[in-house]
Amino acid sequence: MRASGPGSYPPGMELREELPADRRAVRDVHLRAFGDHGLVVADLVDTLRNTVTPDDGLSLVAEEDGRIAGHIMFTRSLLDAPRRLVEVQVLSPLAVLPAFQRRGVGTALVRRGAAALAERGVPLIFLEGDPGYYARHGFVPGGGLGFRKPSLRIPDGAFQVLALPDHQPWMTGTLVYSEPFWRHDAVGLRETDTE
Ligand SMILES: CC(C)(COP(=O)(O)OP(=O)(O)OC[C@H]1O[C@@H](n2cnc3c(N)ncnc32)[C@H](O)[C@@H]1OP(=O)(O)O)[C@@H](O)C(=O)NCCC(=O)NCCS
Repeated sequence: MRASGPGSYPPGMELREELPADRRAVRDVHLRAFGDHGLVVADLVDTLRNTVTPDDGLSLVAEEDGRIAGHIMFTRSLLDAPRRLVEVQVLSPLAVLPAFQRRGVGTALVRRGAAALAERGVPLIFLEGDPGYYARHGFVPGGGLGFRKPSLRIPDGAFQVLALPDHQPWMTGTLVYSEPFWRHDAVGLRETDTE
């Protein structure tokens, strides 16, 4: 995907799947981009990575001149729908090194990842994030579509979803995060985040 217009990315920037040799650089991206939360996010990535396989989940990096400038990860969680449990994907985390921000790298990672998951037949991608950013990529508030968030500590506006072509109307219900999000206490806001 290297289209012009929205979703294009800087010349010289390559998007590709993360390789084992990228791990340290990916960690560094999250430590630098997330500031005080960087350690939690970097540790979460190291745990989630073990759940990513060629058929399930996705870990993409943006590389420019041999430097990892951005990273995005999608991993499997469950939607507790009335008919049955449905495998969905959660976009978390996304980060771009501060020096590379506002050049379309984050946009390219989101769009490439969503396109790859759509091709695999994934019905829904959920995330927690700033609606101001993700609305640009087609995400909408999950509550409005009948989805329930996995924690009351997630602000309503932050709980967002992107429905892909394989989504069917009966696929509603509660998002159940995979265990690593709880183990790393990486769900929603704690009182200490809002004080
Ligand atoms: C959010 C982030 C991934 C965006 O990456 P990026 O490569 O700079 O994104 P893009 O270049 O594709 O888009 C940049 C645009 O998004 C806007 N934007 C960035 N963060 C935003 C936010 N939280 N809310 C609204 N808009 C935001 C920028 O202002 C910019 O707008 P402009 O094009 O009108 O100037 C990056 O800023 C980052 O790593 N932030 C720290 C980690 C983080 O918050 N990750 C997201 C967790 S949900």
